[in-house]
Amino acid sequence: MTKILHLSDLHFGKHFLPVVGEAVLAQAESLSPDIIVISGDFTHRAKPKEFEAAQKFLQRLPPTPHVFVPGNHDVPLYRFWERLLNPHMLYQNYIADSLDSTLSIDNGIIVGLDSTAPYSAIKNGRLSRRQLQFCKQAFTGAPAGLFKVVVMHHHLVPAPTFERTRPMPQAKRALEAFTRMRVDVVLAGHLHRAYVGHSLDVYAGENRDHGIIIVQCGTTTSCRGRGLEREKNSFNLVTLTATDIQVEHYHYSEHNAAFGPVSQHVFRRQSGKNLTA
Ligand SMILES: [Fe+2]
Repeated sequence: MTKILHLSDLHFGKHFLPVVGEAVLAQAESLSPDIIVISGDFTHRAKPKEFEAAQKFLQRLPPTPHVFVPGNHDVPLYRFWERLLNPHMLYQNYIADSLDSTLSIDNGIIVGLDSTAPYSAIKNGRLSRRQLQFCKQAFTGAPAGLFKVVVMHHHLVPAPTFERTRPMPQAKRALEAFTRMRVDVVLAGHLHRAYVGHSLDVYAGENRDHGIIIVQCGTTTSCRGRGLEREKNSFNLVTLTATDIQVEHYHYSEHNAAFGPVSQHVFRRQSGKNLTA
C-alpha cells in the first residue's frame, strides 16, 4: 500500500495563509504519507522572497520521497526578460532541479511533468510531444500491475460545473497518450477546487478498456479557493493498493484548526485496469 499526500497551489505571497500552512505541516506528520506530491503554484508572483518562504516550508515537511512540478504562477508573468531568458530559474534554485522528473517506488512509478510552457502559454499550459515521450520512456518496461501516476499542474478534465474551467489545450492528445501508456492516475491542481474526474467521461478515445482517474486538488494554503471551495482549503490523500485506488478530499476547518476528510472515492483495480466502483 502506498499513501500519497497531494498538496497544490500553495501560493506563497500575499494570499498565503500561515495558520493553514502550520496545519498542513502538522498533518503531513500525522498522516505519515509515503510520498508527498505538490502539483504547482508554490508562489503567487514567482518572486525570490516567495520562493524563499516556500523553500522553508518544504524543508519542514517530513523527509519522504516527493514529486514537485511548477505551476504557471511559478513563472514570472510581468518580468519580461526573466520570463524570456530563464523562466524557471528561481523555481529550480529554490524548489527542484528538474522540471520533469521520475520517482520509482515499490509498487509504482510517478512521473512529474512541467505543464507551464512559458513560451506558448500564459496561463492555461501545454504538454509537448517531447514530454509525452519522456513519460512513455519512464513507464517503458514497467512490470504489469505497477501503478503509473502522472503529476502536472494544469487540469485535463473540466470541473463538474464546467464554468470557466476549460481543460489545458491539447488535453485530448495528452489523455490519449496516457491511455496508451496505461496511466492509472493523474494528480493536478490549477483550478483551486478539488474534484475527481475520469478520462472516459470526457474523451471516448480509441481505447475504452482503460480509463484514467483524474484527481484535482484545491488550493491547500491560499485564500483563493474557487467554486464550492471559495475561501476554503483542501488537500487529497490518495491510497494505492493492489486492488483499489482510494481518493479522499480533506477540507480545512477553522473551528478545528485542522484538515478533515469530507469525501471519499474508491475505484476498483482489476488486473492493471481501472473500473469505476
Ligand atoms: Fe494556483
